[in-house]
Amino acid sequence: MGSAKGVGSSNRTVFKHKVLGKVVGREVGAAGRMPGRVTRQVLIDLTAGDGRDTAESGLCSPGILAHHAAYPKGVVDTVILVERDRNSVASLRESLKARDFGRARVVVIHGDSRDSDVIERIIEEVGPTPTTAVFIYSDPNAITQHALSEQLLSEMPEMTTTMSTLGCNVGGLLRLDQQKRVPTWSAHVNTVIAQAGAGRDVIFVALQRDDSRWAYLLTTPNAWSAATIREIEKASADWPKGVGIASNRTDHKKFADLVLKAFCTADELKEMSRERDSEEEGEQQ
Ligand SMILES: C[S@@+](CC[C@H](N)C(=O)[O-])C[C@H]1O[C@@H](n2cnc3c(N)ncnc32)[C@H](O)[C@@H]1O
Repeated sequence: MGSAKGVGSSNRTVFKHKVLGKVVGREVGAAGRMPGRVTRQVLIDLTAGDGRDTAESGLCSPGILAHHAAYPKGVVDTVILVERDRNSVASLRESLKARDFGRARVVVIHGDSRDSDVIERIIEEVGPTPTTAVFIYSDPNAITQHALSEQLLSEMPEMTTTMSTLGCNVGGLLRLDQQKRVPTWSAHVNTVIAQAGAGRDVIFVALQRDDSRWAYLLTTPNAWSAATIREIEKASADWPKGVGIASNRTDHKKFADLVLKAFCTADELKEMSRERDSEEEGEQQ
């Protein structure tokens, strides 16, 4: 990728869509190879957008899900697309006419993914079968709108994996008071970690030197964690300023450090480091 393209929102979108494509592709391929264990698969996009391919990547998330749902050896039978904006949902419905989802039924929900009635509808569509595999994607415009709720996660089958995008400083969110800011965001990360349980790893990915501090939180079966990290590393060529990647299971210290750096200002980090140093000095005396 030449420098003429620059490093900005366009590269972020390319990176995000590349990672999403890789992750969903692997999930769908693997589900299709486990006929006894996985009988069906549901793909969920909690923030589907307008369904138009972006100029930056030539893709959009409903298009990426359609591509993989149509994989002939896969078992995707339902794709759920949620969008709260009226105009976007109309455009999304229109765009679906030109997309092939294979054998999958497409359910479009006009509503907010955090609302109880939307969550209940999703739970109903997913159904109670423990051999259902689920992939959930959440890509709101900023971390404050994160669409992946504890209520939804707690009702999903065991074989559920997720990818959420977190815009930690979109529109200068870091200017908000720290007391209000950090608990909400750490709660989101902790909810995802709790849902992952022992069988799944949580991977935090942070774009370095990004004013908007975009980051990505993924859950993946432990067995796929290393491969997922390698795929993200490959996609990171689209963000030449560097991408921080850490596994919560194998490198919790780096994971916690990256999370903190994404959610705190430079001054707050300096203050925390000063406090840590003086605590350590106190212990040594
Ligand atoms: C960044 S765009 C999504 C882009 C799309 N995922 C893609 O990659 O092509 C965010 C979209 O999510 C919608 N959105 C944000 N929060 C939402 C929520 N809680 N429930 C449903 N839709 C939401 C917004 O209206 C907007 O259309």
